Amino acid sequence: MLRIGMLTSGGDCQALNAAMRGVVKGIFSARDDVEIYGFQDGYKGLIYSDFKMLTSRDFSGILTRGGTILGTSRQPFKLMRVPDENGLDKVEAMKHTYHKLSLDCLVILGGNGTHKTANMLREEGLNVITLPKTIDNDLWGTEMTFGFQSAVDVATDTIDRIHTTATSHSRVFIIEVMGHKVGHVTLHAGIAGGADIVLIPEIPYDIDVIADVIQGRSAAGKSFTILAVAEGAISKEDAKLSKKEYKDKLASRKYPSIAYELAEQIEKATGKEVRITVPGHTQRGGSPVPYDRVFSSRVGAKAADMILNGQYGYMVGMKNGETVMVPLEEVAGKLKFVDPKCSLIKEARMVGISFGDREGDEPAEETAAAEDVRVTEADTKKEKKEKKAKKDKKEKNKKSKKEK
Ligand code: F6P
Repeated sequence: MLRIGMLTSGGDCQALNAAMRGVVKGIFSARDDVEIYGFQDGYKGLIYSDFKMLTSRDFSGILTRGGTILGTSRQPFKLMRVPDENGLDKVEAMKHTYHKLSLDCLVILGGNGTHKTANMLREEGLNVITLPKTIDNDLWGTEMTFGFQSAVDVATDTIDRIHTTATSHSRVFIIEVMGHKVGHVTLHAGIAGGADIVLIPEIPYDIDVIADVIQGRSAAGKSFTILAVAEGAISKEDAKLSKKEYKDKLASRKYPSIAYELAEQIEKATGKEVRITVPGHTQRGGSPVPYDRVFSSRVGAKAADMILNGQYGYMVGMKNGETVMVPLEEVAGKLKFVDPKCSLIKEARMVGISFGDREGDEPAEETAAAEDVRVTEADTKKEKKEKKAKKDKKEKNKKSKKEK
């Protein structure tokens, strides 16, 4: 008998059901003696042994259904080692559930936080396979995550709709796009929707540049301007703050989000009326787009293959269009940012998109503050050392240039 536990954790997205269907169909294509234990609401179900037994029939007809048939919840990694309100040791509880049910493995679908816990469970001796879920596409070790293309589709549709109304009014429109600390969704939706200005966390913006672009468009007879702004977008000034200073600033900010702060600054700088649209969780809702249906089916089937071969301790990722096994310890805790020097950014600039920066501005990853803002818990000591050495070398070069 093969006993598989399955759970979906963190924020939901499109194609979670499609991915689970891929796993189950893949397994049943090779074996009949399989038991599937579906844990409710993410790690919570594993901690409190809240599960339902599922059959292959439960996974029929869910390829196109958004959300997750298992439910999900956010269980922060940093609290996993902290006992619950009744003193329960959550990690021990998860291990207990796993062994009590004699599971052969866990299939865990999730994003960054989820992967840290999945890796910890692996270190604790459980057999784990993970699938890359998040609209943010910020998981290390994979070119793609499912949910991303669907979210880009929704965000693009929002920009498209704003476009038609924008042409009737001389206004500035801001569309605030999800993505947490990274700008992948905004960048893709911004290009696809023909935004004039795209602001992402990886390229700190200068409000004067934004004002110049808007005024420049007006002078050229284009009375409206559309900005696609990542929820994590950051100004040049804020990028220079330390991580703590920036957190404090966010905590005391009078605006609900970055779009509102920007709107006020743009109105002041240009005298133009600004309107804000925040599609928010619509970006995670609805049916997966065909790309996500295919991709999630593939990673699901690959996970099934790995289970059948007893290959555990990996995330299924994608590299050069092929499904690959990425060791969990390499994935856990790292974020995949947009590379400000990548060709996509260069090409976006060539088709007229402004990123709110000036030529010659340093990309975010090289400014002192951005390093602070961007450091993730999982940055390994080695990586930190390398970063510091790079920074020191740069400063030394600058200094010796000055002296010359
Ligand atoms: O990680 C997915 C995501 O949608 C982010 O883009 C966003 O910042 C966050 O989740 C929103 O989380 P919640 O659903 O908990 O409000």
